[in-house]
Amino acid sequence: MIKAENIYKSFGKLSVLNGISIEVRPGEVIAIIGRSGSGKSTFLRCLNHLETVDKGTISIDGETFVSNGKYLGDNDIRRICMKTGMVFQSFNLFPHMTILKNVTEPQETVNKIPHEEAVKTARELLKKVGLSEKENAYPSQLSGGQKQRVAIARALAMKPEVMLFDEPTSALDPELTGGVLSTMKDLAKEHLTMIVVTHEMGFAREVADRVIFLSDGKICEQGKPAELFENPQTEELKTFLSSLLK
Ligand SMILES: Nc1ncnc2c1ncn2[C@@H]1O[C@H](COP(=O)(O)OP(=O)(O)OP(=O)(O)O)[C@@H](O)[C@H]1O
Ligand SMILES: [Mg+2]
Repeated sequence: MIKAENIYKSFGKLSVLNGISIEVRPGEVIAIIGRSGSGKSTFLRCLNHLETVDKGTISIDGETFVSNGKYLGDNDIRRICMKTGMVFQSFNLFPHMTILKNVTEPQETVNKIPHEEAVKTARELLKKVGLSEKENAYPSQLSGGQKQRVAIARALAMKPEVMLFDEPTSALDPELTGGVLSTMKDLAKEHLTMIVVTHEMGFAREVADRVIFLSDGKICEQGKPAELFENPQTEELKTFLSSLLK
């Protein structure tokens, strides 16, 4: 569903991604872990062209939008990257729009979906994330966890083939993370393809098919969660996992 080969990215003199390759099969749930600054967000942002790569090849659903660092034209990039939906740490809802409008607006403006149909889809998705009763509220009237579930509904409304999550619960108080994680678990059960950057090792262990540990912009280790967490092979991963226990 997503294939990235040999991705390199620098910001000035700082090389952040140093030859990352991954292949994500349809329906697979990947957790990306690693310490702060290891390049997790940058990598995710390259996958949907929020960030450009210096070198490498990325394909989504069989369509390549950058090949050996050479990009297609803007329209083709946009069309291909629209197969991904992204959820950020900081929700990014439209503050002046109701919850319902937050979920209908992108469908109507970007996907040209007729209003009635957009509303129907939005209501179904708000129900799915447990927020039907909030459709007329504004983002400022919601808790962080509720806002994040609206952000997930909004991304799903665009019918993405792949969902990218960048630490969706790290801005939330601990008691609010559960609702967001259980929404994500439901999506995994429905076999949505997901790449999740997370600090929630419990979630990674329970839901991910594969965990990828990034260190210094490289894949240091990857494998099934149980193997990786119980039997880390590298000093880097051992150190990272023990730092989480402190
Ligand atoms: N737009 C940018 N310009 C310059 N440097 C950047 C930019 N974005 C990220 N960086 C740098 O790239 C490195 C990797 O950042 P990135 O955000 O990918 O890390 P991360 O693994 O997501 O960390 P965290 O767990 O803290 O979110 C960091 O050193 C960061 O300062
Ligand atoms: Mg990050």
